[in-house]
Amino acid sequence: MLNHRAEETDLTSFIDEVKQFVHQHESRQLVEVTFGDLIKRAPLSREKIKSFLACHVAGVRDVPTSILTLAMRLSHECMKYDYFGGHAIAARTLFAAVHEYGLHNTEAGIEKTHFELYRDAIHSWGFTVEEILNDDSIFPACHELTDFNEKLAQTGPIAMALGCHLALEETADREFFLLWEGFGRYWKEYGLSGMDDPALGFYHIHIIQEPLHGEKSVEALIRYLQLVPEQKQLVMDGARKYMDMYTKWVEGFYNIFAN
Ligand SMILES: [Fe+2]
Ligand SMILES: [Fe+2]
Repeated sequence: MLNHRAEETDLTSFIDEVKQFVHQHESRQLVEVTFGDLIKRAPLSREKIKSFLACHVAGVRDVPTSILTLAMRLSHECMKYDYFGGHAIAARTLFAAVHEYGLHNTEAGIEKTHFELYRDAIHSWGFTVEEILNDDSIFPACHELTDFNEKLAQTGPIAMALGCHLALEETADREFFLLWEGFGRYWKEYGLSGMDDPALGFYHIHIIQEPLHGEKSVEALIRYLQLVPEQKQLVMDGARKYMDMYTKWVEGFYNIFAN
């Protein structure tokens, strides 16, 4: 029992290190400037809004599916070690996926998925789905990021995919808050109906849900690593790799907004 507790403390401080790595990463400043200052300084042109939406939509393409895939793989894997408790570990990862699928309040039924909210946003900005999905300004880092996430969740080492997922949740929180705040600042100039316009709904839902996703990812990681402590380093590798790809992605947005 004592050993078990010592191991848990050790894993908790390791995960804190991973989180610290994400929060102190060089890209954090770039995120503040790109999604903060550059969006807040003045209303953006319609062309820039369109490019932003196209690239952002392309960059988050795999998020719901990759979390779901990872939760399923984790469930199978954990069952090998803990037949009855394995799903409880995967439930911590699945938690974020059910939000993505609009299932956060099953009593109320099925609500809009995050992607339906993003589709509503596109329409509210006055664009068509086709225009956004086929926009020719989508830069390569958008596809690189999504392909990386998707492949890692599908076939990569589970510990690495969990590290990547934690980094994703921890970065998305600030990103979506800044986007909501920045675009919201000029809602009148953009012709929106207010801070609760559907154009901002996709960002707003994440402000509410994202902190819990980060928390639950930490729980999943600690429980998983208790089963396979030798895979610890893979978690950090996943977070590092994600932050590399994420930084390139944010740089792409910097180029759109700054030029
Ligand atoms: Fe989401
Ligand atoms: Fe999330």
